[in-house]
Parts: sequence; C-alpha cells; structure tokens
Amino acid sequence: MPDIYPASDEFVAQAHVDSDMYEKMYAASISDPDAFWGEHGKRIDWIKPFTKVKNTTFELGKVDIKWFEDGTLNVSANCIDRHVATRGDQTAIIWEPDDPKTPSQHITYRELLDQTSRMANVLKAQGVEKGDRVIIYLPMIPEAAYAMLACARIGAIHSIVFAGFSPDALADRINGSGAKAVITADSAPRGGRRTPLKTNTDKALQHCSDTVKCLVVKHTGDQTTWVDGRDIDVRAEMAAASADCPPAEVGAEDPLFILYTSGSTGKPKGVVHTSGGYLVYASMTQQMTFDYHDGDVFWCTADVGWVTGHSYIVYGPLANGATTVMFEGVPTFPDAGRFWEVCAKHKVNQFYTAPTAIRALMGQGTEWVEKHDLSSLKLLGSVGEPINPEAWNWYNTHVGKGRCPIVDTFWQTETGGHMITSLPGAIPNKPGSATKPFFGVQPEVLDAATAEVQTGTVAEGVLCIKDSWPGQMRTLWGDHARFEEAYFSQYKGYYFTGDGCRRDEDGYYWITGRVDDVINVSGHRMGTAEVESALVAHEAVAEAAVVGYPHDIKGQGIYAYVTLMNDVEPSEELRKDLVKWVRQEIGPIASPDLIQWSPGLPKTRSGKIMRRILRKIAENDYGALGDISTLAEPAVVDDLIENRMNRA
Ligand code: WT7
Repeated sequence: MPDIYPASDEFVAQAHVDSDMYEKMYAASISDPDAFWGEHGKRIDWIKPFTKVKNTTFELGKVDIKWFEDGTLNVSANCIDRHVATRGDQTAIIWEPDDPKTPSQHITYRELLDQTSRMANVLKAQGVEKGDRVIIYLPMIPEAAYAMLACARIGAIHSIVFAGFSPDALADRINGSGAKAVITADSAPRGGRRTPLKTNTDKALQHCSDTVKCLVVKHTGDQTTWVDGRDIDVRAEMAAASADCPPAEVGAEDPLFILYTSGSTGKPKGVVHTSGGYLVYASMTQQMTFDYHDGDVFWCTADVGWVTGHSYIVYGPLANGATTVMFEGVPTFPDAGRFWEVCAKHKVNQFYTAPTAIRALMGQGTEWVEKHDLSSLKLLGSVGEPINPEAWNWYNTHVGKGRCPIVDTFWQTETGGHMITSLPGAIPNKPGSATKPFFGVQPEVLDAATAEVQTGTVAEGVLCIKDSWPGQMRTLWGDHARFEEAYFSQYKGYYFTGDGCRRDEDGYYWITGRVDDVINVSGHRMGTAEVESALVAHEAVAEAAVVGYPHDIKGQGIYAYVTLMNDVEPSEELRKDLVKWVRQEIGPIASPDLIQWSPGLPKTRSGKIMRRILRKIAENDYGALGDISTLAEPAVVDDLIENRMNRA
C-alpha cells in the first residue's frame, strides 16, 4: 500500500481549491483573519451587514468569542428563502426511509420553505418566542429538518437529543436547557425495530415542569397515550397553519443551537453554537472539503442528533443550495448493501460516513458493494475517529474503486465544522492522517506534561488550537466558567481539543485519540464518568470504574470494573441487569461491553483510582503496568489481571 494518494488530474482540474490556492488562502487566513473572514463572511446573506469581523480572546478568565458581532441575519432564510428564487424546484432534501419498500421523498426548496414556515407558525402558536429553547427528539425524518429550520426562523434555540437516548437523558436536557417545548414522534423505526419515542417523552416529562408542551409527529401511526392540553398533533397543526412566516432578524452571536456532549467529568455539557460564524463555517467547509458543486447529491450518513448531522446534513449543505440525503435507517438493514443501494438509487456524488460503519460492512464481504452501481461517486469522507489502514484500503478499493479521494475530517462538537482535513484537490491523502488544517485553523502540538509548544515540524503531544475560527462554540449553556475550565485552563492561551496527536515530516497531522476520560464508541462520544455514575446508581453496586478498550468494530468498547455491595453475589443475571440498567439510564450507546467483578479497585493512598492501570488491564496489556508503588493495596492488581475480561 503506497503511503500517499494524490487526487487524479481530472479531479484536481475541477476542484474548488488546488494546492497553490490552498497555500495562499491558508497563509492569508492566518496573517489577516479580519480580511479573510470579512470576505468569506459574505458567502451568506446578512440582513444588516457586519462591520466588525473577529473579536476573540482565549485568555483564561476572560475567554470571549465573537465573530461578525454587529451583523444580523436569519439562518433559515439563508438555508431556504434565498434559494427559492433561483432553484425553487430543485430538490433540497432526499428522504430515504428505514424500510426500502416505503417510497423515498424528494422535497424541493419551495416545499421546504412551505413546511418550515408552517412548523414555525405551529411553534409560535404554542408560545415559543425568540431565545426560547426547543428540544427535538425525532427520528431521521424530514420533520427533523423542518423543526431545526423552524426554530432558526423564529430565533428559537433548538437542542436535539439523539433518538437513542433514554427518558432520563432526555429529561436532563429538557431541564438543563429550560425548554418550553419538545418535538417528538410516536416512534422511530431503525433497522426494522422501533424505539417508542413518545412513551420515552411521557416518562421524561414526569420529571419536568408541566408547562412544557409536547409536539408529536404521527410518523409510524403507533398507538400512544395522549395528554390533552399538553400534546399537539404536529402534522395536523401544520396542515392548518399559515405557510407564511417571515424570518426573524437575529444577531450574529445569538444562539442557533445547544448540543449536549460528553465531557471527561460530570454531566454532559451543553455546547452553544451561534448563528453567523457557525453558518459561514459550516457552509464553507461543506463546499470545500467535499468539493461540492451545484447539482451534486451529497450524503452524510450521520444522525441529526450529532453535530455531524447539524453541520453536514442540514446547515452546511442547505446554506449552499445543495441536495442533501437524509437517511432514516442503518447500514445493515435489510442487508449489508443498503448504503450502496441508496448511493446507486439517488446517484450520490459525495458520501460521508464513519470508520465504524466501514469496518462493520467490511466484515460482510465485498459482494454487497459489487451488487450496486457506484459510478456516481466522486468523493468519500470519513469522520469520528482515526480510520485504520484496513478500513481505508477497503473504502478506497471497493467503494471508491480507487478513483475517489477520501477526506478524513477531524473535528468536534465544539468546533462546529472541520478543523483538520484534506481539501481533495489540494492535499494528497495519507491513509489514517486527517492531513492539514482548514483555513483559519492554527493547530499547535504541545508537550502534554510541560505545555511547551513543539516548534519542529515533526512533533508529538496534545493538540491545541492557537486562535479562534468562526465555527467555534461560544460557551456552555448557562456555565461559562465550566467552558473556560474545560477547554482553556489546561494549556494557557490555547483551546485544548482533548486529543493527542503527531505531526510528521510533511506537516501532516495524525490524531492519536483522546487523552482525557472521554471514549469514542462507534464514533460516539461517551464520558467514562457518565457510565460510572449510572452504574453506581444501581442498588447492587458499591463502586465502578469505566475505561475504553480496543474493539474491532466500534473502535473502542466500554469496559466496566464493578465492585458490588458487601451482601451481593456476582452472577450472569446481575451482569445482564447492569447492562440493561445503563441502557435505561443513558441509552443503548452507553451499554458496557465487558463488566469485570472487582473486589477492589487500584487506588493511591489518597484514594484516587489509578485509571492508567485499569486501562492497561482492559487492553490486555498488563505486562507493563509501570510504577505501581504508590498503590495502597498492590494485591488488588493481581486479582484484576487474573480475572480480566479481554483476553484478545
Ligand atoms: C472527537 C470528537 C464532529 C465529528 C464527530 C464526532 C474524534 C473525530 C476524527 C478524525 C480522528 C477523530 C476525536 C475528537 N474524532 N473525527 N477524523 N480522526 N479522530 O464528534 O462526538 O464531538 O467527538 O472524535 O477524538 O475529539 P464528537
């Protein structure tokens, strides 16, 4: 396998950005951010044009991030109205249902305007106003996009909760954001199974203020309970509502959405993105990273419950007047050819997915790919974790047929859009490397211990970013102090990503994974602390410590060390019960893969759990535990090694 893959000459010739342009534009974006973003800020429509561009500081105690601060705009008008005049009959959203026997839908920009405006009027009728929070807990159906854009239209702030989250997690987010309304559906079909979203919402709402409204999309027709005065039939109300709703004028720095994500400690963090800078950044990265051209069909397989869906299913593509695919299902239903069947059916040009999906499909054999005509594909993308060489090679050979550049995009919920990624016409790819920074992004590799900036080209350490970019999160909802503490306190003057990284002799970046207590399970972020607190909430559990371990398909699996209460005997039954419990407390994505009964946990004399040791044992790499002399009871370790659960 060669170690570098340039795009073909034909690809480069038609690309938005070639290597000369990349170098020039990148240099300009760093030397004069005001001029650079002042120009690119014009890619979206402003109601009142901005006169100020960048006003940001990473100084601890004063962290403040503002872009285009005196401009005003409306995000939904940018994603819909401005395209209607020129491409009203073009498809904005192709909806592909879970069951391939259900017809897909093509929603034009004109229809999107109609539906979004109706949804906005339904929200208004329920008393939702500018600045109010609305929780969206929906399957991947067009109403999810209408709901996001309807909030943006009236200046309300949406917070999407992934449909795989539990009632408890939903209640936390309703209460944490102080939401006025929840938009949900009767149930969510995925892979032929159904998640009872309305029932989950009913349970969640028992823990919330009884003024919270519940808007229900009757999607599957499944029977649900109905609370008069609280529950609203969205489709019926939309049908009766006016299709005219003028877009509200909002400030560039007014919040567009809150998205909860896992941190290394405590409860999930409410990441806040605002309107102007976010939209400029999401749209510019969507166009340039994927080399999107007018008329292309773009498919990002993420769920709108994650930031990837926000930026690259809805906001980025629609701001660019693109045709975006929204897929309700899973890669393996009804069979392992579904992704490729959908690519062929809708003549997808750019396809963007996660390594975990590729690994899962790779295991099913190549016949599933070969069955379908993938000649429409021009480019492939990867996101969520480093892509391993086997998966990269398979993706390149069997899906891209060796002719599609693969962009490996490193970014985070917090960053709003791509941070380190190849631009396909400009930067030759090295499998496993996210390659180089996007415009305006200044990565620095710092020594983890000394915080010293590594000045040589070749470097290894933690990944920090030196200065702000327009898509950056602005704060944590209601907790600016935690925002500073979580991202700016470790390495003074820098935004800390939480990732380790290496820079090679060509200046390419290789992300090596999280260096904090965040794990990456199937491209989804999970805080070990969250899983631990769910486990200790179970009556049989005295103490728990959770770490990640290498998992063939998921990237990382969840490994839990559990100490039971004195009077409780371990059993297979209890093991199953604990898994079920965590699923109920957080959701299926948090299910522990392995649970080890641990009579004791390795602690220092001051009582701190030595996670380093637990990680090693979980990785089945217990030969090199390093210094364990500070342990209070070294014998605990022998027991853990003897009874380790991962012997791979
Ligand atoms: C973490 C962010 C927004 C992307 C979806 C996940 C890891 C993400 C890559 C990549 C290596 C990656 C990092 C990051 N990550 N993309 N291309 N190569 N690692 O968003 O849930 O906020 O997770 O995902 O560890 O910190 P997220």
